[in-house]
Amino acid sequence: MGKESVIMAQQRRLAPTRVGILGSGEVGRRLAEGFSSRGHEVVIGTRAGAADRLADWPGTAGPRITAGTFAEAAGRGQIVVLAVLGTAAESAIDLAGPEALAEKVVIDATNPLDLSGGFPPKLAWGHTDSGGERAQRAAPQARVVKCFNTVGNALFVDPNFRTGQPTMFLAGNDESAKRVVVDLLYDFGWTSTADCGGIESARLLEPLCVLWLHLLDPSRKHAFSLLSEPVSG
Ligand SMILES: NC(=O)c1ccc[n+]([C@@H]2O[C@H](COP(=O)([O-])OP(=O)(O)OC[C@H]3O[C@@H](n4cnc5c(N)ncnc54)[C@H](OP(=O)(O)O)[C@@H]3O)[C@@H](O)[C@H]2O)c1
Repeated sequence: MGKESVIMAQQRRLAPTRVGILGSGEVGRRLAEGFSSRGHEVVIGTRAGAADRLADWPGTAGPRITAGTFAEAAGRGQIVVLAVLGTAAESAIDLAGPEALAEKVVIDATNPLDLSGGFPPKLAWGHTDSGGERAQRAAPQARVVKCFNTVGNALFVDPNFRTGQPTMFLAGNDESAKRVVVDLLYDFGWTSTADCGGIESARLLEPLCVLWLHLLDPSRKHAFSLLSEPVSG
């Protein structure tokens, strides 16, 4: 990969920013709470607009989270998160307007799961393509970083385990965008982060979600860890 290590270190704390989240499911809500808890403003987007989809959710009652459409979340966010049904990610980008994402860091947390054959799901596409690459093609000027897709949402923020540190895996073409995401991850409590290379490495990360689901324990509190630097040898 042309680097000494895939393990990346935090360089700085992420200054308070405005984050647009496309998606108001468990993932969108959990990340909205996480960003808000770290001092960022959040606009969480739904297809239909604010009112009904988030009516039962207390998150928007606080000062830092507001609700809007996908286009409002994409337009107002300085960093944007893609947190929709994986097979609908390109459609969500279309609704948001790809031009609103130009030059922005776009964190793609989706997995293109196909549940038509029951559980555990298959991937709708893989091997020679991935959701991450399709998102990057749908928003060619965005700086897409695949991240958060290899772990359950309950662990997105402050992942604490008695048995060690889990690793967050990421992939994307833009090095500076990955740096921003690593800084954000450290603020979220992820001290082990692994850069898996360009966005085509989403082909490797999306199947990890299927493995995570295959191993699913009822608590949903398991995660992958990448170990390096053995003590001897
Ligand atoms: N659940 C987890 O713990 C977890 C962890 C890591 C990654 N992921 C991935 O993160 C993504 C979000 O997961 P989730 O569990 O929060 O919710 P989800 O049910 O997979 O997705 C919900 C969101 O997708 C949007 N959506 C659904 N159909 C759409 C369409 N045809 N066009 C545009 N948008 C559409 C919904 O819009 P409305 O708001 O308008 O209804 C909603 O905001 C998925 O790709 C999932 O695989 C999930």
